[in-house]
Amino acid sequence: MRRKLRLGVTIGIWMIAGYTHAEVSTARTAEDVMSPDYVGILANQLPDHDSAAAVLYKIYCAQCHRLVAPNKHTASEWAAVITRMRNKIKGLGKTLPNDEEWDDITRYVIENAQK
Ligand code: HEC
Repeated sequence: MRRKLRLGVTIGIWMIAGYTHAEVSTARTAEDVMSPDYVGILANQLPDHDSAAAVLYKIYCAQCHRLVAPNKHTASEWAAVITRMRNKIKGLGKTLPNDEEWDDITRYVIENAQK
């Protein structure tokens, strides 16, 4: 129960941070994921790679570039990155996860973020 509450609060803060600082640079750990040399992480190396959330991550987050390991960003950095990706998915006409799937992907990167 406490854990759930803490996660809820974390996600709440994140969503606010993500919406208000949507274009904040995350240069500290940003990588050139669009480079043809970018390898990223293999699907079976993802944390809990068989979980439902990891499967969503594989489906939706590899439509334009290879998979980025969730521990490439801290939780607060992910808030900005993931909001930017949502805008890109819309802008480039790729498949947008539904709201529930989006929440699962967000929770997945937060839980597996760089500590
Ligand atoms: C519509 C295409 C598209 C989809 C789908 C997409 N991305 Fe990206 N992503 C990009 C582009 C283009 C860049 C490079 C420019 C930039 O960083 O804004 C990028 C860069 C990134 C970066 C590196 C930049 C940084 O700040 O570290 C990460 C991490 C990332 N994407 C994660 C994700 C995740 C997680 C998802 C799934 C929710 C996702 N992407 C889905 C297009 C996409």
